[in-house]
Amino acid sequence: MCAVNHLTGIDALSDADIRQILTRTLAIDAALEAGHHLDSPLQNRLLFNLFYENSTRTSLSFAVAGMRMGAHVVTVPVAASSVHKGESVRDTVLTLCAQGADFMVLRAGGAGTIDAARKAVEEHGLSTAIINAGEGAFGHPTQALLDAATILKALGRTPETGLEGLTITIVGDLLHSRVAASCAPLFARLGAEVRYCGPGEMLPDQAPQGVASMTKDQKAAFKDADIIMTLRIQLERLSADASVDQVAYRSDYGVTSESLSLAKPTALVMHPGPMNRGVEIDGNIADHPDRSLILKQVAMGVPTRMAVLEFAASL
Ligand code: CP
Repeated sequence: MCAVNHLTGIDALSDADIRQILTRTLAIDAALEAGHHLDSPLQNRLLFNLFYENSTRTSLSFAVAGMRMGAHVVTVPVAASSVHKGESVRDTVLTLCAQGADFMVLRAGGAGTIDAARKAVEEHGLSTAIINAGEGAFGHPTQALLDAATILKALGRTPETGLEGLTITIVGDLLHSRVAASCAPLFARLGAEVRYCGPGEMLPDQAPQGVASMTKDQKAAFKDADIIMTLRIQLERLSADASVDQVAYRSDYGVTSESLSLAKPTALVMHPGPMNRGVEIDGNIADHPDRSLILKQVAMGVPTRMAVLEFAASL
């Protein structure tokens, strides 16, 4: 059996793993920008994209990453699959492993689903690497890695200098955000002060691991921040009787020219996408050539997923 590395969450990565992935991400990004291509280190390897929830950025950047490295990429048509005959995630994963999957890029809703897939693979002695591509409201580790790499590149930092001394405010629906659940512990491990900000019903009861402070007060949360990361309100994860007054939300928590002026004059804005323009972020901020990192995050998705595939394959 080949040795593979699963990537199920930020907590499952050592500091050395994180440094390795970020270092390779920035190196691959520089090579791609210079027009160089990797030789095909994953030639003849098989990558399955198995997404139980919708995706544009993650699924396609893993597909592009796999193709750029010479892998065969199979996108599982979940809507037309035997999932609708009641087949479980576990049995679906094992079925695809039996077809020769080297990488299983998995997005699923339930807590613990990704780790259960890893356990099933290990119990069967299989050498498929399980990669978390977003798990319900619980984690999205490759998004956090690409976000960290985007900040390092934008600020001319390295994985060694990390995010030391930076204040990063994450604003929005923190209770339902898998992105925040992975970004907060990663950014804190890299040395940042992480602040959470949002309305009471969108904040957890207690500050999670890595979060230095939580507040409903946007002014306090934005004050002197270096990075403002705003999140989509996840209407699909709110309870059926919850409703959001989107005009009031923009006024209290939106990233607008006015609210951004509370942060450092050099503060940069991030959003993992997809965005609700005019709600959590105004269009002029999202498209701002100097302040917005949003499309740079998307671009960093490809080298990050290439570095993650290298890591998973133990290359
Ligand atoms: N950021 C992110 O996970 O986007 P997708 O849902 O489009 O993959």
